[in-house]
Amino acid sequence: MAYQHFIDLSDLTQAQARALLDDAHQRKAARAGLPKGTADADAPLTGYTLAMVFNQPSTRTRLSFDLGMRQLGGQTMIINQTETQLGRGESITDTAQVVSRFADIAMVRTGPHEGITEFAKHADIPVINGLTAFSHPCQIIADLQTFEEHKGRLAGQRIAWLGDGNNVLVSFIHAAALFDFELAIACPAEFMPPQSEIDQARAQGAKIILCETPQQAAQGAACIVTDCWVSMSDDPATAEKRAAAFAPYQVTEEIMALGDEAIFMHCLPAYRESEVTAEVIDGPRSVIFDEAENRCHAQKAILTFCLNLSDTQ
Ligand code: CP
Ligand code: NVA
Repeated sequence: MAYQHFIDLSDLTQAQARALLDDAHQRKAARAGLPKGTADADAPLTGYTLAMVFNQPSTRTRLSFDLGMRQLGGQTMIINQTETQLGRGESITDTAQVVSRFADIAMVRTGPHEGITEFAKHADIPVINGLTAFSHPCQIIADLQTFEEHKGRLAGQRIAWLGDGNNVLVSFIHAAALFDFELAIACPAEFMPPQSEIDQARAQGAKIILCETPQQAAQGAACIVTDCWVSMSDDPATAEKRAAAFAPYQVTEEIMALGDEAIFMHCLPAYRESEVTAEVIDGPRSVIFDEAENRCHAQKAILTFCLNLSDTQ
């Protein structure tokens, strides 16, 4: 059976990415009003099993893949690294092959990015990146879906990223090469995203603007996004140094006012009064819970895409 991994958005064509996002919109609309546990009318993954392997914590990714798979008619199995032989040193290579004998598709949350590429290399089933230290592609499909629900088509609009040049931003950079939006980035010099990803995205036509100040990035933005200052793969001992560097990048009402009736997005979990004030994240421009819900609709588009059971190929 033909299948595709979902490791990074930079692996997709523009047509595939647009079709994937349209599928997420359509799947959400098609089941409006149904109880969450009711399967979709077409239930395209009936008989399929998703294995999820976590070696870092998760609330949204875990719940949204679990529910999404069930709504598609399939089943799920979840293993946490600490409870498995992976935690005792069994290799990713062997684990990938074993999981391939029990599941039809796998979602893996590793720390290092090499963990997911190694898993995908040795698996005989499609493998989805459920977040690494480098990227978080599933999150961005949900974010773009949320953006379009609130602000209309992405083309020509500005999304501003403030704060850490982390895994979520890398996937936004990849997305900027797939969709025709402008990505304005304001990060402290020491915490810029990898220049190689910016260069590659720009070479594919991405409109990426590196800004000196958060105010410059927020100017005219339809959406202002940030994330935590210390990610799961970061050394917690750097928290104090990070807080000092990121403090000027906090998303405040003053920053939001520079946008064009901007919405506020955050992948969550969030830390109020650090990267964003409570006033903003709990205020009327915040769409964080739509964003969280859309993880489910987006995962469903990703699952069917990987299994070659959608129209997005
Ligand atoms: N946004 C996100 O991936 O959340 P979790 O870490 O809770 O899965
Ligand atoms: N950048 C964050 C995202 C959490 C969903 C982290 O990697 O911890």
